[in-house]
Parts: sequence; structure tokens; C-alpha cells
Amino acid sequence: MYRLIYKSRSSGPVSRETVSRIIHSSMEMNRKHGVRGALLATATHFLQVLEGEYEALNETFFRILKDPGHHDIRIVHFAPAGRHLFQDWAMRGFGVFDLNRNLEERLREKYGEEDGGVRFPEEEWSALSMVFDVSMMDEPAIS
Ligand SMILES: Cc1cc2nc3c(=O)[nH]c(=O)nc-3n(C[C@H](O)[C@H](O)[C@H](O)COP(=O)(O)O)c2cc1C
Repeated sequence: MYRLIYKSRSSGPVSRETVSRIIHSSMEMNRKHGVRGALLATATHFLQVLEGEYEALNETFFRILKDPGHHDIRIVHFAPAGRHLFQDWAMRGFGVFDLNRNLEERLREKYGEEDGGVRFPEEEWSALSMVFDVSMMDEPAIS
């Protein structure tokens, strides 16, 4: 089992609908390939954590790379992982743009700022820490 994390810049402004569309379009494909994880979005960037077998993860990532919906794609991490972090999430989406101001302010303080929004990390530990911070917040995931 492997874990891959990447960060990218969206080609257009990101809304809840953008994230919802991506989750819906990937759900079936991810289930078929045994891939799961989480997708975080600010108004300008994506951060995605994908878990699955080596071949499935490569195939999925190279498909995602070709998507014109984003660019400046940077691999943050790709390595074997001992166990799944996302046991029961096929793929969950979290918008970091419409959290309440207090929460967003705290994330900015902890992770920094980029393009007026929360900055997505470029280190594995920090990216995973953010996924857990965001998933613990009361705001419901986007489905
Ligand atoms: C930020 C982002 C994340 C995506 N995540 C996934 C994903 O986890 N799984 C997936 O199959 N497709 C994902 N996609 C969509 C793929 O890029 C691609 O459009 C979709 O799988 C259909 O591929 P196809 O047109 O080659 O069949 C994502 C796209 C974007 C922009």
C-alpha cells in the first residue's frame, strides 16, 4: 500500500460545486481501483492525499495530471505506507474557503498564506496534519 500527496493550482476559481463535481467524477473510478483519500480545496489550490496499491495509484495520478482543471502540479510525497489513514473514505472533499472566519484564521496562522487563502503545505507531515485539522472541524465534508 502506497500514499501519494500532491498540490496543484486550479485553472479557475474553486467553489463547493467544483469540489463536488470532482468527487462525483472520481468516486466510481477510485472504488474500482481501490483508491481512497481526501481532497482539500482553497479558492485557488488543491491538495489531495491518495492511498492504494502502487499500480492503481500511478494510473490514477497520471490521469489526474492530464486534467486541464489544474496545473503547477507538485508531488509532495509518494512512498509505501504501513496502513490506511482513510479506512472508510472513498474520497472526501473539504473546502477550506467557506469555513467560518475564526477557523480559517487559525489555519492561516498555523500553515501560512498563499494567494489570499490558506497555504497548502509542501511537506508530508504538515499536509497530513492539515487533512486531520480540517476533517475534525464541524463543517461537513463536500459530497
Ligand atoms: C483536483 C483534482 C482531483 C481529482 N481526483 C481524482 C481522483 O481521485 N480519482 C479520479 O479517478 N479522478 C480524479 N480527478 C479527475 C481526473 O483528472 C479525470 O478527469 C477523471 O478521472 C476522468 O478521466 P478520463 O477523462 O481520462 O476518463 C481529479 C481531478 C482534479 C482536477
